Amino acid sequence: MTIVAMACKNNNEISAENYKDDNITSKIDSLLKLMTIEEKVGQMNQYNGFWDLTGPSPKGGTAAKKYEHLRKGWVGSMLNVRGVEQVRAVQKIAVEESRLGIPLIIGFDVIHGYKTLSPIPLAESASWDLEAIEQSSRIAAIEASSVGINWTFAPMIDIGRDARWGRVMEGAGEDPYLGSLIAKARIKGFQGDDLSSVNTIAATAKHFAGYGFSEAGREYNTVDIGTSTLHNVVLPPFKAAVDADVKTVMNSFNEINGVPVTGSPYLQRDILKGEWNFNGFVISDWASIREMISWGHAKNKSEAAKIAVTAGSDMDMEGYVYIEELAQLVKDDVIKEDLLDDAVRRILRVKFELGLFDDPYRYCDEVREKEMIGHPKHHEAVLDMAKKSIVLLKNENNLLPLKKEGQKIALIGALASDKNSPLGSWRLASDDNTAVSVLEGMQAYKGNSLVYKKGADVSVGKTAFVEEVRINTTDKSEFQSAITAAKSADVVVMVLGEHGFQSGEARSRTNLQLPGVQQELLEAVYKVNSNIVLVLNNGRPLAVSWADAHIPAIVEAWQLGTQTGNAVAQVLYGDYNPSGKLPMTFPRGVGQVPIYYNYKNTGRPKNVEGNVFWSHYIDSENTPLYPFGHGLSYTTFEYSNLKLNGSIFNIGNDITVSVDVKNSGDRDGKEVVQLYIRDLVGSVTRPVKELKGFDLVEIKAGDTKTITFTLDKTTLGFYNNQGEYIIEPGEFKVFVGGSSAQTLEADFELD
Ligand code: GLC
Repeated sequence: MTIVAMACKNNNEISAENYKDDNITSKIDSLLKLMTIEEKVGQMNQYNGFWDLTGPSPKGGTAAKKYEHLRKGWVGSMLNVRGVEQVRAVQKIAVEESRLGIPLIIGFDVIHGYKTLSPIPLAESASWDLEAIEQSSRIAAIEASSVGINWTFAPMIDIGRDARWGRVMEGAGEDPYLGSLIAKARIKGFQGDDLSSVNTIAATAKHFAGYGFSEAGREYNTVDIGTSTLHNVVLPPFKAAVDADVKTVMNSFNEINGVPVTGSPYLQRDILKGEWNFNGFVISDWASIREMISWGHAKNKSEAAKIAVTAGSDMDMEGYVYIEELAQLVKDDVIKEDLLDDAVRRILRVKFELGLFDDPYRYCDEVREKEMIGHPKHHEAVLDMAKKSIVLLKNENNLLPLKKEGQKIALIGALASDKNSPLGSWRLASDDNTAVSVLEGMQAYKGNSLVYKKGADVSVGKTAFVEEVRINTTDKSEFQSAITAAKSADVVVMVLGEHGFQSGEARSRTNLQLPGVQQELLEAVYKVNSNIVLVLNNGRPLAVSWADAHIPAIVEAWQLGTQTGNAVAQVLYGDYNPSGKLPMTFPRGVGQVPIYYNYKNTGRPKNVEGNVFWSHYIDSENTPLYPFGHGLSYTTFEYSNLKLNGSIFNIGNDITVSVDVKNSGDRDGKEVVQLYIRDLVGSVTRPVKELKGFDLVEIKAGDTKTITFTLDKTTLGFYNNQGEYIIEPGEFKVFVGGSSAQTLEADFELD
């Protein structure tokens, strides 16, 4: 019997029966007293499993060594172990063969679903539907926990303004207000109200911090942002996550201001654990501690260990730094054992709260695994989420929705029959070819004749999560058959965009065009039939300027997960009236990037004297192709009667803003009514617009609803360059509308 079990039996300090009561601290203290330095370091050590790789292949780790360390109690967690059988196998070694029998916490990238996949997070964010987003994370937690996983490395809450960066697909877009609310919804979905329940899992706010500002959008690149951007744009979603009681935070690969985050006491101790009082634990990103050597911030692994543990990195993911260096640093009195104790307390607390000391195998239930994976209710939920994530970008002459009968439809594009790309890049646990394709979704509508032609492959050869995807840039051999089909069709539906592995981690692009020969295919089909509905499948904003200038209807369908085809078909045929709004700006061209709605006015915002001396390009407009918050409906909404409950307020007052929204079309629809402010003058310059409220409302055809918002201290202030939240008196504007670029406006003054 392991010592932990004996301790449970004898002195009841950490007994399973009373683990639920809230004196977890005393149980942790009791356990800590029993632990050797090596066992403490073991809790701070996370190994990758023996199956999937989600980072550079391990140099220091062999399966034999990992099994040996499991037996010694020198492993606190494993990632990429999945399935009840595999989890039980490693948990059994840790619990029944090691001296103390401390259970492992099992982590996995459950980014937008486990086996039944919801849309990629950027797509879900386009729904602006916080309840649906929470439910989507709930489903992911139910499926993941049924296969032994009790910790997800999600939500990724990095603000992203640069579509060249592949991981914008994983976040909530460019706005910190929307991003903060979505972070809270996802964490609530994963963690539920009771972390000790078997269908809830610990969440991770990642990547702390600034990773979305990788220079030039190049993956893993340096980050150089000012304190104003750090405090007003990057950090707010993480503060929201900590306030939502997120159990873990993952640090980021990047440096900020020359200091790798994993070695930054300012970010991890002063702000996260100090000012914000975060009491969970910090997991490094994959080998980010070891990579401080490559950054040129640590001369070797021993120094990397010292810097990281001092800076508040509690667990080393697949880095072999803590396990090989920390114990000696303590023995040589280079670092204090208290640093280890603090990290171990944090880690053990999460394990207690998950109920793992109560029953280490509680997440290993073959019956639940069979029942929960792929449950019909999960498919219903991800289909609902997918429909809500679709954004109608353009719809000239109401080409959409399609007629359900008597039409000859040509469906063109390799992505229309692709059953993998719509699952996105973070689909580690889903099975190949499990997405409902657009072709299958369209075939479910029997009233029209439907001809499908691929037109051209997007990629060539086999693709895999860890390999570069090779794009078809030459093979146009099937253009002609697609053109022939288009010629005789009433309507052409073209599904074009990115391969599933062209976005996601390590998938930065230098151009934002349709990849490969797809643009040529689009123009070739357009020549014979301009009645085209373009359905985009992509993991990032694309610069589809030619399409916007020529194609009458454009639908942003992202990568919508397992139920992609049914969601797209139901929107194209009008069984669901699209309600999505862009969470990230679409540029006219890559040269505009980074481009975002909450930009600064600059000193020369417009051309005043007809000369060239103002902030602009000589070869492009400044405005985006599609702005943040843009999204059309099959009906129309008219805004009027914007009112405030006064014009001069003092800082303590709440300000009420109301607006009338009329559904002036002939079908019911949903609208995301958005409220923005502008603080005209600040000790730190303020953006020309900042989202500070939104309401997703359903309005019946012909009806009008009055929508009301409240502005208060929490929404009118900003962070100064010392990181203090302040509100300054002065003039403000308030804007309300269905997009950041189409609003009514009013003024008020703050005394
Ligand atoms: C990856 C990602 C991180 C992920 C981790 C484990 O490198 O950066 O988001 O959770 O490794 O797969």
